[in-house]
Amino acid sequence: MTLTDTIAIERAKQSRLPQIDFNNLGFGNHISDHMLVADYQGGRWHEPKIMPYANMMMSPAMLALHYGQSVFEGMKAFKNSQGVITIFRPERHHKRLNRSLERMCMPSISENLFLNALAALIEVDAGWVPTSEGSSLYLRPFVFASEAKLGVKVADEYKFMIITSPVGPYFSKPVRVKVEEEYVRAAEGGTGFAKCAGNYGGAFYPTMLAQKQGYDQVLWTDAKEHKYIDESGAMNVMFVIDGKLVTPKLTTSLLDGVTRDSILTLAGELGIEKEERKVSIAEIEETCQNGKLTEAFGVGTAAVVSQIAVISIHGKDYSVPAISSESFQMRVKNKLHNIRMGIEPDTHGWNYVVRS
Ligand code: COI
Repeated sequence: MTLTDTIAIERAKQSRLPQIDFNNLGFGNHISDHMLVADYQGGRWHEPKIMPYANMMMSPAMLALHYGQSVFEGMKAFKNSQGVITIFRPERHHKRLNRSLERMCMPSISENLFLNALAALIEVDAGWVPTSEGSSLYLRPFVFASEAKLGVKVADEYKFMIITSPVGPYFSKPVRVKVEEEYVRAAEGGTGFAKCAGNYGGAFYPTMLAQKQGYDQVLWTDAKEHKYIDESGAMNVMFVIDGKLVTPKLTTSLLDGVTRDSILTLAGELGIEKEERKVSIAEIEETCQNGKLTEAFGVGTAAVVSQIAVISIHGKDYSVPAISSESFQMRVKNKLHNIRMGIEPDTHGWNYVVRS
């Protein structure tokens, strides 16, 4: 019996796969044939169903639209050269989803439901997992308050859904970031560590301003003093300073990235010392000036490992040195790729096999 035998499936009458140009995917432009939906009602999650991806009927009074109870995860599935499909570290994503759900007063999801739902959906849409270099099937589980009511309240009804998308690289070129000293993404004690929809909506305006100035992303700083670096919204950030891998330590205002954790875990194996600590703007500026900062990069499920080419600090652009195949970010990116593709042994047990 396979997982697809245990979850009700209504198959799409016609696959949209022939319309997809797998050599030109971009990020998030195509949604696979099927989606998974489970309802929470009467204090429990009901059996999930897999159905054709389509628009859904929703009430305009749905609570998620008004009061923001909406959280998501981002994961990736890969198909290796033997045709084995794996999901990268879904157990850790599941734990983070439940931390986000708890912070937003939403019902938790069991690991069993989460993993079976993901695996069953991927089995049904196995043909959508791309195989070309740098591509993967992006998995987007999300939970939102579906109850229709206008009173300000914690909802009693929710939907857990998963949609998937074959994707290429998130950034097509090295990234230019602007250190943000006016606007705030998240304050300590707020929801910055949770993957809730509002964190992203609130970041759009300052990001749009930065983009108008020629930057791709904002590098958020702490809400109290605008002195210390938090993260970059779509990714965590890392630096190589004086030969050491340095990244902001986790607080309640930044996301506990799974790629961040994976890279910190691999650092020792790649012979680099790591430091998780406060990283001030002053330190980044000084080390850009004295040449001690040799690498800067963003890390995340979508971004994977994305080179940062320019950092704007107090309105001044600092160029980060060019990278080579010997740079830490290239070595760790290759190592992650090799582990995911079964080229190097998965000694940490990160690949969750969906279908072999
Ligand atoms: C991810 O890396 O999965 C993210 O959630 C970042 C962005 C695509 C929202």
